Amino acid sequence: MFDLMELGPTIGAEVESIDLAAGLDQAMISKLREALLEYKVLFFRDQHLTPDEHLAFARCFGELEVHPFAQHRNGYPELMQLHHDDTPPVDGQYQENIWHSDVTWRLRPSLGSILRAVEVPPIGGDTLWADMYQAYDDLSPSMRASLEGRTAIHDFLPAFGPGIPPERISAMREQFPLAEHPVVRIHPETGRKLLYVNASFTTRIVDMDLDESRALLAFLTSRAARPEYQVRFRWQPGSIAFWDNRCTQHYAVQDYWPQRRIMERATIVGDTPS
Ligand SMILES: [Fe+2]
Repeated sequence: MFDLMELGPTIGAEVESIDLAAGLDQAMISKLREALLEYKVLFFRDQHLTPDEHLAFARCFGELEVHPFAQHRNGYPELMQLHHDDTPPVDGQYQENIWHSDVTWRLRPSLGSILRAVEVPPIGGDTLWADMYQAYDDLSPSMRASLEGRTAIHDFLPAFGPGIPPERISAMREQFPLAEHPVVRIHPETGRKLLYVNASFTTRIVDMDLDESRALLAFLTSRAARPEYQVRFRWQPGSIAFWDNRCTQHYAVQDYWPQRRIMERATIVGDTPS
């Protein structure tokens, strides 16, 4: 059907001998779903998909969402476009070089994302993913016990606020109220516990002194940065990454400016974390 080559002890596998443009039958979709649950992020090489083929592949795994703040490909609202060129990053920072899972500020953060490389720099611009099950499992028993039943607030404003015209912020807040999610989430399909706070969108732990919350979040969000939990992917044109956004975080390395890097992402709607 297709072959899988593992890329790390707990996270990452490359899917070989598959042609995504040819379309997938039900058996293949089920096998890819199983592989996604096991390896958390799947990589594909040399898949030169059209925008329609990219969307068709993503729709095999669920309904797609539209990102309210990011730009999208012309005529394709469900294809978010990440476009970087010789415009200098502000303070050395893009949105993507902070550890995060996507859109956790939604009440229903996405199930997964399918990211396609359109144009990549000759060197640099890799993306890393971290296994947040493992990050949780490695916490001490007393730390795990102290997080039991805790929730945290997730907010789009720290990351996207600077790009939103001030007069639109209150309307956006109404549309996307602060989201409260468990600090330790149970994956809806595997039943495993995982650490579900991130440096980009999680602003505080509920019912906790603000200083304590800050210190604890700094510790918990830093766990994604441990190389032991990571896989790193070097992009080529036509490469695709499909990640389970519920149990992973990712970080796009910003080491290629002023080269161009253009990526397109289709994002699959997820469920309410519990
Ligand atoms: Fe992201």
